[in-house]
Amino acid sequence: MKKIPAYLFAFLLSQGMNAQTDMNSYINDLLSKMTLEEKLGQLNQLTGDDINTGAPSQTRIGKELIAGRVGSVLNVQGVDKIRALQKVAVEESRLGIPLIVGLDVIHGYETLFPIPIGLSCTWDLAAIKQSAHIAATEAGANGIAWTFSPMVDICVDPRWGRQAEGNGEDPYLGSRIAEAMIEGYQGDYSGNDNIMACVKHFALYGAAESGRDYNTVDMSRLRMYNQYFAPYKAAVEAGAGSVMTSFNIVDYVPASANRWLMTDVLRNQWKFDGFVVTDYATITEMQQGGWGVGNVKSVSARCLKAGVDMDMVSQGFVSALSQSLNEGKVTMQEIDQACRRVLEAKWKLGLFADPYKYCDSKRAKSLTYCKEHRDAARRITAESFVLLRNEGNVLPLDKGKKIALIGPMAHNRDDIAGTWSFSAKPDKYKTVYEAMTEYVGKKGKVLYAQGCNLLEDAQTQQTVSQGHGVKPIPRVNDEQAMAEALGIAREADVIVCAMGECAWMSGEGTSRTELQLPAPQRRLLEKLTQLNKPIVLLNFAGRATILKWESEHVPAIMNVWFGSECGDALCDVLFGETSPSGRLTISMPHAVGQLPLYYNQLQTGRPVPDGEPFRVFASNYIEQPNGPLYPFGYGLTYTTFQYSNVTLSQNEMASNGTATATVEVSNTGSREASEVVQLYIRDVEASISRPLMELKGFERITLKPGETRKVSFTITPELLKFYNSELSYVLEPGDFTIMTGPDCKHVSKATLKVR
Ligand code: BGC
Repeated sequence: MKKIPAYLFAFLLSQGMNAQTDMNSYINDLLSKMTLEEKLGQLNQLTGDDINTGAPSQTRIGKELIAGRVGSVLNVQGVDKIRALQKVAVEESRLGIPLIVGLDVIHGYETLFPIPIGLSCTWDLAAIKQSAHIAATEAGANGIAWTFSPMVDICVDPRWGRQAEGNGEDPYLGSRIAEAMIEGYQGDYSGNDNIMACVKHFALYGAAESGRDYNTVDMSRLRMYNQYFAPYKAAVEAGAGSVMTSFNIVDYVPASANRWLMTDVLRNQWKFDGFVVTDYATITEMQQGGWGVGNVKSVSARCLKAGVDMDMVSQGFVSALSQSLNEGKVTMQEIDQACRRVLEAKWKLGLFADPYKYCDSKRAKSLTYCKEHRDAARRITAESFVLLRNEGNVLPLDKGKKIALIGPMAHNRDDIAGTWSFSAKPDKYKTVYEAMTEYVGKKGKVLYAQGCNLLEDAQTQQTVSQGHGVKPIPRVNDEQAMAEALGIAREADVIVCAMGECAWMSGEGTSRTELQLPAPQRRLLEKLTQLNKPIVLLNFAGRATILKWESEHVPAIMNVWFGSECGDALCDVLFGETSPSGRLTISMPHAVGQLPLYYNQLQTGRPVPDGEPFRVFASNYIEQPNGPLYPFGYGLTYTTFQYSNVTLSQNEMASNGTATATVEVSNTGSREASEVVQLYIRDVEASISRPLMELKGFERITLKPGETRKVSFTITPELLKFYNSELSYVLEPGDFTIMTGPDCKHVSKATLKVR
């Protein structure tokens, strides 16, 4: 007789019962039927790289599935392929437990938004939530139930290539973005446009020493709590279904084996009730990482005991935990608990009720890269560009003019989507050149030349880009290419350079020691500036790059952060249909020697205010100023805004009361534009050293020319609290400086006394 599959049983059981009791009783029952091997199977995640051909049940994963030795797969793409795998899981394994299929859906699925650092520069939480929801809709139609996003690691060192994947340097903004992403991905889990999020990388991955990926992290607990933990905590409190561990050590213990981190902080202090997965092959790497924590058996046992529930691809849990159980190194209770958490996630997603919930090929066809999603991406991408300079109002451009579009990113389809875009379909996307040609139509003319190589070293370009699955940008002959570019530039009214980093130059494993424009691009740019024509640099970047020379020689510079609709979005902004509105979420340095660099610094005993000349025996550098070239929060637009001084509703506030800070902002230029009004607070005197300023609020407003708006921020005790030396979260009465302005450098101040 054919057995009733688990999902059908779950569905029958769920009719008319309370969801929580229902889940608990269902999972209790299922656990009581599971063998040890089946339980460990649920903790095992395999990568599907090898299942591109052949019948699913004949593949390695298929066989493991039938044997009940796998609970999740990642890196399988294609709705039919995923459906077939799911069928094996629910129809051919003994208990028919559905798979949870995960993928790195980082800034969209096929419709790709700007890379996360760019998305954060919108400061538009509604847009960010919408981008996550569109990503979930497309991924959820294509078989994906679980995304390894958001990455909320704070990063203050752009040498680290993964600055691209996060939300910048600020804990407050990072927390709000984390919440928006979780809501956008997960919703209430009810629909097939809601997928499970995975907050990563817990914890402190963005603080790798020297910005070198996977490197050591060493940090005080005070800094963890006051600066780095906030976005993870916010994501957990927003209901994130899962958390991914990080590759680095925390307090000299690999994060995945760190019980304090995974259990005391995450579960006991923050009440996280989802499941924890390791990062890719972490258990394997812990054995060889020189961390001295032992072999596969002891590493797996340590990770389980620390609070990890699922092992991503190392197969340590499935191969070694039963032996540890026999030796008394782990308990059955610990295995059951991890298994329960994984099953609960599947339950919450509705996979027991319908394992094919995310496998509807009709939806996949109609929703993936549909017009509605593309339009949203175009609008949101346009919001992300950060205008850094616009001397002489070179921008916006006139459609009717002759434009020379030059550079390795100008007509480059394979890189346009940016890093971490596994589901990209570059053939469908427009290059900047194509978009611009279409946009100006018969009115103007766009001439194109690549002009130079991306990098000096052909080999770097070749090897690394192949490793990332992105085709390398065609190599050109330096002299010929330069001559061609100068030729079209001479003919043109205005020069637009699309330069910078291509997709693979940021993201995982792409640390850099030099952050200025690569030499061949810089050489070309120098020559182009000598033509004395209006010139715009579109700086494609996955991190804060160094634009010191450019800022002295190129009148207009705009930072651009990739995305499938980047070409069209650029036209909207370059030709003035929309005014730029992105604001930096990272400090852009003058020089690599300043790193790490961030605005929310502590005061030193020998401070040198930014802009003052070098002083010996003071806290500054001989060659460079202390502050950034472009500060956190900064960005220009096609109009000007004027700020009134900040006013407070009262000068004193009780420690359990509130106060209101208000500022008036006027659009004093001639175009409609958006502004991000920012609130910063400084705790002037406290029991520990506190930052000179911390972002504590912001509001994105759009003003017509001549329009004025009052923007008010409620100052609550929560905004004034911090973790003290005992790691207690406290408000210490005293003076607080309240600051508002368009960025962290241009603020007006008022003092609030808290009693
Ligand atoms: C990355 C994660 C990613 C995982 C799965 C790892 O190498 O660090 O961010 O989610 O791979 O692809």
